[in-house]
Amino acid sequence: MNYNKKTVRDVDVGGKRILLRCDFNVPLDKATGAITSDKRITAALPTIQYLLENGAAVIACSHMGKPKGERKMELSLAPVAKRLGELLGREVMFAADTVGPDAKAKAEALKPGEVLLLENTRFEPGETKNDPELAKELASMAELYVSDAFGSVHRAHASTVGVAEFLPAVSGFLVARELEVMGKALDDPKRPFVAVLGGAKVSDKINVIGNLLTKADTVIIGGGMAYTFIKAQGGSIGTSLLEEDKQALALETLAAAQEKGVKLLLPVDTLAAKGFSADAQPVAMDVAAIPEDMMGLDIGPKTVELFCGALKGAGTVVWNGPMGVFEFDAFAGGTRAMARAIAESGAVSIVGGGDSAAAVEQMGYADRITHISTGGGASLEFLEGRELPGVACLQDR
Ligand code: 3PG
Repeated sequence: MNYNKKTVRDVDVGGKRILLRCDFNVPLDKATGAITSDKRITAALPTIQYLLENGAAVIACSHMGKPKGERKMELSLAPVAKRLGELLGREVMFAADTVGPDAKAKAEALKPGEVLLLENTRFEPGETKNDPELAKELASMAELYVSDAFGSVHRAHASTVGVAEFLPAVSGFLVARELEVMGKALDDPKRPFVAVLGGAKVSDKINVIGNLLTKADTVIIGGGMAYTFIKAQGGSIGTSLLEEDKQALALETLAAAQEKGVKLLLPVDTLAAKGFSADAQPVAMDVAAIPEDMMGLDIGPKTVELFCGALKGAGTVVWNGPMGVFEFDAFAGGTRAMARAIAESGAVSIVGGGDSAAAVEQMGYADRITHISTGGGASLEFLEGRELPGVACLQDR
């Protein structure tokens, strides 16, 4: 896949109306509806500021949640418009619809240096179907399309891909940086290249493991999915997470690593407990000898040592997925230790979005990581080596 895409710097934006796709799918407090993290809004600021400073009028749009074509007002982008205005230090107008009369009138009246945010693109039934009519309506408000929604580039929707049929399409700074840093890690990494993969399911990560086995020098597998590997090798894993039907795949993966000369590390011990709860008592034990009534919920101390040791001297580290149930304090130690070791490794470090990004932030290591992706599903598909439709539709350099 070609990551070398034109950016806003490669085109003339002055005096133009720009349709800017952002990923403002920010987490909201369930009870109050307040934005609990504005990271995705701050991540879009450099592009918005550049466009405004260079005389463009910015029509921003985004999805929020999964309203499935209905106007679910708890998923309105109105709070995002307010927060964006505070962060930019200027007024951000808000349209009560996406391509309706309010959006059209406000977009038409928009002057250079002004910002308008459209209502949730997924309030439109055509958005997730990549309906060309909706794409055309969105595009009709602008002269240029800029994608800065890295978290959504794996979705072929009207506002992420369809609009590029009707407007010249380039990337913003956030998408450009994500592509540059992660692209380089995959295609031309500083070696040794160590991939750290965790998370609950083999099925979620198997394509990432497969792709990284062709690129990395060492692949570390932790988290819930490791137990399927241990079981497949004949270990006793008690009531730990198991994907029965993925055991053959786990063995094939181990064989593939051996054939390619990639070091694949699995846990050697675990912190197990009698039940899945925050107050469960952790007991350290051999990962392949878990009693029938216990489940592994984190990597154990010997594994922490083994995994952290493998990070020493690394040139590049890519991390996706926690090592254990890190939302329970008693089982957060493995994930915390990995976050720390990655931050201190001195390597070019890349953390995929979602849980692992939340972990490094929560644990205070974010400023020591080279790049924390703003994409959850998108960064996973990137690491799988899949073509991202929201990137493929942008103009090549
Ligand atoms: C995300 O949160 O990963 C992106 O905003 C994409 O959201 P989606 O999975 O609902 O498309």
